[in-house]
Amino acid sequence: MLVKDDTISATAQPEPTKKVFVKSYGCQMNAYDATRMTDVLAKEGYAETQAIEDADLVVLNTCHIREHASEKVFSELGKIRVLKQERLAAGKQTKITVAGCVAQAEGAEILRREKAVDLVVGPQSYHRLPELLARTGNGAGVVDTDFPIEDKFEFLADPAPERIRSRGLTAFVTVQEGCDKFCTFCVVPYTRGAELSRPVTQILKEVERLTASGVREVTLLGQNVNGYHGEGPDGRIWSLAKLAERIAQMPSIARIRYMTSHPRDMSDDLIAAHRDLPQLMPFLHLPVQAGSDRILAEMNRKHTAADYIRLIEKVRKARPDMALSSDFIVGFPGETEAEFKETLKLVEEVTFAFSYFFKYSARPGTPAAQLAEQVSDEVKVERLARLQQLVDTQRHAFNAATLGRDVDVLFEKPGRHPGQIGGKSPWLQPVHVDGPASLIGEVAKVRIIEVGSNSLYGRLLETPQEVAS
Ligand code: 5AD
Ligand code: SF4
Repeated sequence: MLVKDDTISATAQPEPTKKVFVKSYGCQMNAYDATRMTDVLAKEGYAETQAIEDADLVVLNTCHIREHASEKVFSELGKIRVLKQERLAAGKQTKITVAGCVAQAEGAEILRREKAVDLVVGPQSYHRLPELLARTGNGAGVVDTDFPIEDKFEFLADPAPERIRSRGLTAFVTVQEGCDKFCTFCVVPYTRGAELSRPVTQILKEVERLTASGVREVTLLGQNVNGYHGEGPDGRIWSLAKLAERIAQMPSIARIRYMTSHPRDMSDDLIAAHRDLPQLMPFLHLPVQAGSDRILAEMNRKHTAADYIRLIEKVRKARPDMALSSDFIVGFPGETEAEFKETLKLVEEVTFAFSYFFKYSARPGTPAAQLAEQVSDEVKVERLARLQQLVDTQRHAFNAATLGRDVDVLFEKPGRHPGQIGGKSPWLQPVHVDGPASLIGEVAKVRIIEVGSNSLYGRLLETPQEVAS
């Protein structure tokens, strides 16, 4: 079995003397950043706690993508301030840190509005957390929302002094950050900055470190991950396809995934990699956002509905069992009923296994927020429900189609019931079987015998060689 001990110590590590509580909002990139913040804080003697009232340090890892994001953060901070005062009355200090995209966007304004905050740190400065925290505590708050990002990339790759925690069998790895696409509704290009790719050697170092702690599946992360163009060890620029090919050569890596992609960056070599690399999973998160060409143009997506459909045809030709997921925005300014119906039409044509749905919300500073014809919330709610219902039907049909089929499952953990183990299909569906815990960490063939609303149930068909021997 490949699952290793909970921790592997690279060098001596201080015994935890303090506790940190991290609350992370939003995207996978934030979730990944949160784990790296706890890694660097472990080096400073902080153990993670799930109980905020026990925390010597509270980190809010914020997301700026939705409406009222900043207001929600301030209301959360108000509650944490009360906690800080209560702890102080009991003789205990609490430091409050605001991280993530709201920190980046609001900067020093957060300190002005909420005096209880000790530190405001942007997503590109997490490697400086120990040094920044050391500067807090003298009454004045500290702010670091500096770019550039290269230092952070370096830090992500360097595990040396930290206690490395295994987080199970699947892990995220940031390969690219930032976005140059400037979709008119989106704050990401402003909060995360320009697109930048990590050098290949750094990424490989991080993946090797993860495999050493038992990881068998990596999801390569980036705001525009398929636009990856990092410097390779040969001095040339490597594409995501080439990076995936190199990672696939690592014997411990059973599965590779990536998200989030942009239709404009879906290059031929990446499509070919889906045909040629068995480790590259047949699941593609490729947001289309809307189905009307006028709305797509207003969004500055730089592709039409027909471009997207043609692209999917090409992808499915290379990998016929490819499952798709998307992000959709309903009620973009000026979206008419007829234009919304074009989104439904596109969904009917493409068919999705899964999707995320958003009501358009005006983000201050973005071009779409200036558009006059905002759609009423009532209409947005109604459109959201119709779209969701359609994709739900497609999702159920997609799951139902696996009944009786034999699928590879990477087993990740014990199942809900004794004697059960659970894992994921190549298409990210949870699968449960009766089977030995020794299979956790392995890929095995499973015949699907029952389809639930959210997960599949199956019977083991074989025991992999390395487990049986
Ligand atoms: N309103 C609604 N949804 C948005 N998204 C990004 N910005 C907005 C906004 N202003 C959605 C997009 C994107 C996903 C991460 O969040 O669908 O793909
Ligand atoms: Fe935002 Fe568009 Fe960039 Fe995605 S591609 S992060 S939606 S600007």
